[in-house]
Amino acid sequence: MKKTILFCLLLLGGVTAFAQPFGLVSKSLNPTDLKGKEFRYKGHITFAPGDTASTGHLWIRVDLKDGQMGFFENMEKKPIRATSWKTFEITGTINSDAENITLGLFILGKGTLGADKFTFEVKNAKGGWDAIALENGGFDQANTEGTPDKWNVKSNDYSFTIDKANPLEGEGSLLIQSIEKPKPIFENGPEILLPKPSLKGSISVEEALNQRRSIRDYANDSLTIDNVSQMLWAAYGVSDSIKGRKTYYLKTAPSAGALYPLEIYIAIGKVKGMKPGIYHYSPIRHSISSITLGDFRSNLDNGQGMVEQAPATLVFTAFYERTTSKYGDRGKDRYVCMDLGHAGQNVYLQAVALGMGTCAIAAFSDGGVSALLNLKKEETPLYIMPFGMLVKSEK
Ligand SMILES: Cc1cc2nc3c(=O)[nH]c(=O)nc-3n(C[C@H](O)[C@H](O)[C@H](O)COP(=O)(O)O)c2cc1C
Repeated sequence: MKKTILFCLLLLGGVTAFAQPFGLVSKSLNPTDLKGKEFRYKGHITFAPGDTASTGHLWIRVDLKDGQMGFFENMEKKPIRATSWKTFEITGTINSDAENITLGLFILGKGTLGADKFTFEVKNAKGGWDAIALENGGFDQANTEGTPDKWNVKSNDYSFTIDKANPLEGEGSLLIQSIEKPKPIFENGPEILLPKPSLKGSISVEEALNQRRSIRDYANDSLTIDNVSQMLWAAYGVSDSIKGRKTYYLKTAPSAGALYPLEIYIAIGKVKGMKPGIYHYSPIRHSISSITLGDFRSNLDNGQGMVEQAPATLVFTAFYERTTSKYGDRGKDRYVCMDLGHAGQNVYLQAVALGMGTCAIAAFSDGGVSALLNLKKEETPLYIMPFGMLVKSEK
């Protein structure tokens, strides 16, 4: 649940989180004594951008009732590019009906960012400034994970550590550094024929429909090749064929004109007896072949952490042409996404029947996924669906 809340927070804040690497540091403040008050939020930053588009930002957001947003500022118009320690500040007024205040800093793009001496003050009746406690605002203490104590950090694109060597003040400062991710080397692997899918399940369709939810946490258990086979088959496997001059294959999901514009890939991380890698699915042969080997789950993750955690993830792409060649624009505007929805729901229901969870993800970097999967230029990535066994509390 927490993953959704944080994710929505980023999106609602207007941060284009998926165009480039994005690393977030945040904490909440109790608004009770701050409502209606003028504030100044200050932080000291030094930044070594990894490319010309990289920027640093302080940010603060006030939440009101019913998910409404109050004051929000993220320095989008005047981002930080200071290459030596400098003070940055956001000023404003806390909404009188504030329900929550979240603040922090973030980095966009590659680079190394140092942060120290963060303070939050509100104006008093005499016009002076009163300091409000911002625990570990000096980034002096690390927690047991090595990240700054009393702050939340979020990103698989960066490391967040306490640097004791070069603090601006006190014992430490926050150091955010881009992580270099493994690069795929594309080489088609041998075909792996998957075990036959089972046509008998342990729960009814009605039960599966009733239990279906978007699940964003997965147990650490490895999956089996049977699980992989079953999920791929449910998504887009062949369930019948019509023989004529040519054989027509029909699939588990309906498709406008039986044109089947979708392709399915699977990123394997933890499946018993299978090498981690990205594989392409052949529905007709019910087989997979690797397009690149290695654990690329963190490359595929959109910042929500689901893909990185899930033992396996399906990626749906589409060749619109297959459908538009018959139906024109209507094929692109409507039919391909309708096809995708059907296949996605199959995955949801099959996951329930296997005691697993999944979540449809549409918010990701198209360019990043296309590069990682070596997609053709006519091929568009549409859905990412990580899946894994349910954690005990969700059973
Ligand atoms: C087209 C589409 C895109 C979605 N994209 C995301 C996403 O990027 N990240 C995410 O966490 N959930 C995503 N979801 C899941 C929805 O948040 C979820 O379906 C909704 O909150 C309802 O919850 P339920 O699926 O448990 O019924 C998406 C769902 C759909 C249908």
